[in-house]
Amino acid sequence: MGQDLYSGSSFVYDPWVLYARGLITAPNLVLAGIVGSGKSCLAKSLYTRSIPFGRRVYVPGDPKGEHTAVAEAVGGRAIALGHGMPNRLNPLDEGHRPSGFDDAQWAGQIASRRRDLVGALAETVLERRLSPLEHTAVDIAIDRTVRTADVPVLPMVVERLLAPDRAEDPDGRLADDGRLVGHALRRLVAGDLAGLFDGPSTVSFDPTLPMISLDLSRVTENATLISVLMTCASAWMESALLDPAGGQRWVVYDEAWRLMSHPALLRRMDAHWRLARHYGIANMLIFHKLTDLDNVGDQGSAMRALASSLLANAETRIVYRQESDQLGATSAALGLTGTEQSLIPTMGTGQGLWRIKHRSFVVQHQMHPAELELFDTTGRMTGGQ
Ligand SMILES: Nc1ncnc2c1ncn2[C@@H]1O[C@H](COP(=O)(O)OP(=O)(O)OP(=O)(O)O)[C@@H](O)[C@H]1O
Ligand SMILES: [Mg+2]
Repeated sequence: MGQDLYSGSSFVYDPWVLYARGLITAPNLVLAGIVGSGKSCLAKSLYTRSIPFGRRVYVPGDPKGEHTAVAEAVGGRAIALGHGMPNRLNPLDEGHRPSGFDDAQWAGQIASRRRDLVGALAETVLERRLSPLEHTAVDIAIDRTVRTADVPVLPMVVERLLAPDRAEDPDGRLADDGRLVGHALRRLVAGDLAGLFDGPSTVSFDPTLPMISLDLSRVTENATLISVLMTCASAWMESALLDPAGGQRWVVYDEAWRLMSHPALLRRMDAHWRLARHYGIANMLIFHKLTDLDNVGDQGSAMRALASSLLANAETRIVYRQESDQLGATSAALGLTGTEQSLIPTMGTGQGLWRIKHRSFVVQHQMHPAELELFDTTGRMTGGQ
């Protein structure tokens, strides 16, 4: 990665190697630093330099669109989503079939994923959990849609939720149970969130590519839409992620603080972190300060607990420059020594304190000129100079 500033020697890092050697028990990584401290550049170097070693990279949501150029440069693909863009993702897609599933297992897997995803989308729009009655209504609507349609799409499910078959619902109770969910999902089909999830997918997921990034920079500031998009996208990538034969992969959440406030998404992230080891995934979570995790949900809430467990489960924590009011909280969270704490406000661009389990390193990330050019995010600020 660059130079170890204590010893002057080179500093190398690979979470899978550390895991294989028993030095860490999970390959997840958390990276925090103030605006412009070099976090995204470090992330890009970490993952591009690991591609020649056979690793792949997924960015399930890139709010600034800054990983797009990198994805294209390494022979991968960036998919831009947003209003006015031609790309659509169908939440009812079967998805990539992982190896080692027989037909019955695969059918079960598809059914449960569809149910989970449509449920998560409805919960995101409703901003609450579904009731058992609503779950049943969703279940029946999906089941009937899938049976009758060649390519099931969300509008069909909404239609069945709002107007179930008379024969199945003689007393109209099913329709009552599904009314709120139906109207919530209708927003994705006919309301302000229409045009992204309401038809067959226009892009297919190719898990053999070295890198896939979901470019959300065209999504106008709409918290619900970003959350819905990320939920769909992470589910869309999930089947590829959860393929035990999929090899070793980075899953990068840049600008994670924007994403952590969405409960359905946070639950998915948490699941991925728990499964990381088993499936060869290294999750990378990037935010500004460690206390971003404390702003998730209400104190004592399940969301707050989930966010804290993400930090607790990351054995590699990299701290870039922090504001002085953050030093106490950062030191407490990471158990830093006084010397380490005093270093943090003085660090320059690309310098960070790396805590790998209980060991500490101060590292200057060195970039190749080609990386500097490709990864540059200051172009728009300086007019491309
Ligand atoms: N190791 C480095 N060596 C030299 N220049 C660097 C290094 N890291 C970052 N930079 C420069 O700093 C700029 C900002 O870096 P980067 O976009 O990675 O910051 P960031 O921490 O992700 O900021 P933000 O919080 O705004 O996302 C880069 O465009 C690059 O020019
Ligand atoms: Mg950044």
